[in-house]
Amino acid sequence: MKRLLAEAKEKGVKPSDIDGIAFSQGPGLGPCLRTVATAARMLSISLGVPLIGVNHCIAHIEIGIWRTPATDPVVLYVSGANSQVISYMGGRYRVFGETLDIGLEMPLINLLGELTCRTPEGQRLKHMQKNAKKYIHLPYVVKGMDLSFSGLSTAASEALKKAPIEDVCYSYQETAFAMVVEVAERALAHTGKKEVLLAGGVGANTRLREMLNDMCEARGAKFYVPEKRFMGDNGTMIAYTGLLMYKSGNTLSLEDSRVNPSYRTDDVKVTWIQEGKMKRVPEISPGTSLKLGEMLDNGAEAIVTWKKDLKGRKYLLRKESRKLTGIKKLMKGSGSKETGQKPA
Ligand code: FE2
Repeated sequence: MKRLLAEAKEKGVKPSDIDGIAFSQGPGLGPCLRTVATAARMLSISLGVPLIGVNHCIAHIEIGIWRTPATDPVVLYVSGANSQVISYMGGRYRVFGETLDIGLEMPLINLLGELTCRTPEGQRLKHMQKNAKKYIHLPYVVKGMDLSFSGLSTAASEALKKAPIEDVCYSYQETAFAMVVEVAERALAHTGKKEVLLAGGVGANTRLREMLNDMCEARGAKFYVPEKRFMGDNGTMIAYTGLLMYKSGNTLSLEDSRVNPSYRTDDVKVTWIQEGKMKRVPEISPGTSLKLGEMLDNGAEAIVTWKKDLKGRKYLLRKESRKLTGIKKLMKGSGSKETGQKPA
């Protein structure tokens, strides 16, 4: 507390300038949440200002909207523990699709841990991308709008017995990213929204950005990513969302400040958005021959068509955003000019 106030003084902030104390009320690990909540309560009592209990996932969304031109996006939120597709509708951030078991990133971190080079994660990813030679078929599990990564993770671990780590890592990443991009595309198709926002620590991955960008370009949607420092967990996202909540009168009593490790994104009543000011119908740009409604008919179906290469092997053609970057390497020598999925 002493250090905090000293730092605030250095920056010209007086205790009387503080209107409220925002803290992450959940979701997350109980012991970590409780530690911060205890400090927040102590500050709230000693400064005589209200507490603001922020939902961690919503904080990722709000800071992304603040730091980009996005106004009403479909949000792909991917981190170590979370993989959700979210969008605002009817007073709440609704979860359109999410993982049914584990988050997308953990298996990837574990696989990268198998790489022998002792370099930071970002460099390991680059090493993997550069040295992967082929795509290994792994389970692609999209169930309606939901996702499952546990089977994919197990299959990737099994594949390590026979294939180089770089190929396994690369194949896991391509498969998992294609899955989340598909669900984000389905959410765009269902809601008719025209913006996609990427949030969470995995959002720093350039391959995921590339795939989302391809999908958005194909659908005529805008794709937004905030600065890297606001993608992973950061204090600013809690403070900023706390400010939005405070201004809309959304504060907590001490009695209600208990943490909630399972706090759902759609549990939160969003008091700080005036719905009437959000665009809900996609605008058709001048010169476009499409009539309103036609774009909404464009669904997110993944499978397009089957093709055969010169050797008569069948290939499953996928949408641009779900094609594998390594496919050219894979097709080398087949003589076919077609691009497509791994040979069936
Ligand atoms: Fe987070």
